[in-house]
Amino acid sequence: MTFHETKPTILVARQIFPEGIARLAEFAHVDYHDQALAMSAAELAHRLQGIDGALVTGSERVDSQALAHAQQLKIVSNIAVGYNNFDISALTQKAIMATNTPDVLTETTADMGFMLLMAAARRLAESEHWLRAGQWKNWSLDGMLGVDVHHSKIGIFGMGRIGQAIAKRARAFAMEVVYHNRTRLDPMLETEYQASYVSKEELLRTADHVVLVMPYTPENHHYIDTKELLMMKKTATLVNIARGGIVNDEALAIALENRTIFAAGLDVYEGEPKLNSKLLGVPNVVLAPHIGSATKSTRLAMMHLAIDNLIAGLSNQKPANLINPEVFSLRS
Ligand code: DGY
Repeated sequence: MTFHETKPTILVARQIFPEGIARLAEFAHVDYHDQALAMSAAELAHRLQGIDGALVTGSERVDSQALAHAQQLKIVSNIAVGYNNFDISALTQKAIMATNTPDVLTETTADMGFMLLMAAARRLAESEHWLRAGQWKNWSLDGMLGVDVHHSKIGIFGMGRIGQAIAKRARAFAMEVVYHNRTRLDPMLETEYQASYVSKEELLRTADHVVLVMPYTPENHHYIDTKELLMMKKTATLVNIARGGIVNDEALAIALENRTIFAAGLDVYEGEPKLNSKLLGVPNVVLAPHIGSATKSTRLAMMHLAIDNLIAGLSNQKPANLINPEVFSLRS
């Protein structure tokens, strides 16, 4: 058998940077879906037949339907840190490794979260639209008044890597940091970030700026709903850089319209890329199209890390970012 014949076969489910395809082509036969649009669930299931490894993004849902005919599949590598697009138990049942891309996007995504917080608090998007619409006729003392960021209180839901990177930025703005998490941080980390652990309710009632950075799970679907929005200060802002579905977008749009809260900054949405039409109609929300990690260097680093994970898994090595390590033990 020649070396060529022993190459694995890989599905690349979405358009990636050319250097990624060049790297993969050295190692494998590549079935490349060279498209900006995600393929349908039926096409994904079809194209996973006879494939050894797959490189996907957060838009491809990898569940038992997608895996129905994937008899050869050993690994699915996500170009994303969040992996709510994976049905981990379906993958594990079929002894398929699942990997993600943590760390490389932490600082870039924290920048985005902080930027949305500032833009929402200082009405940046609203002011810009107003200016572009030719409505700026004169400077006025009470024009476009926002709320302060410096010396205010930030409340972070999800104090993992990105949450901690946001806390660091907040300290530089002399903000008081409170957080809520599934598990409390090590006291050394709490001291490092000068962050206090509080209940969900206390965070919502006392924070001036609430930032969501937690992973999306079925348990925290609509974690922020009408009840939670009513707990927040009328002067507070809400930022979601985590995942759509954590916030009830309809309830948020109503809260923004009724000024139950001051403003919001959003990068993720329920059912994205479609948006709740009410959100498009309220002025006090800054809307971004899921670009939290979107700098060239970070997206390149995510792609290369996902490729490293894929190649390791197909070379009988443990991928650095294996989500279901029990599968590797089974396979080795
Ligand atoms: C991530 O890495 O989880 C980003 O949200 C991109 O999907």
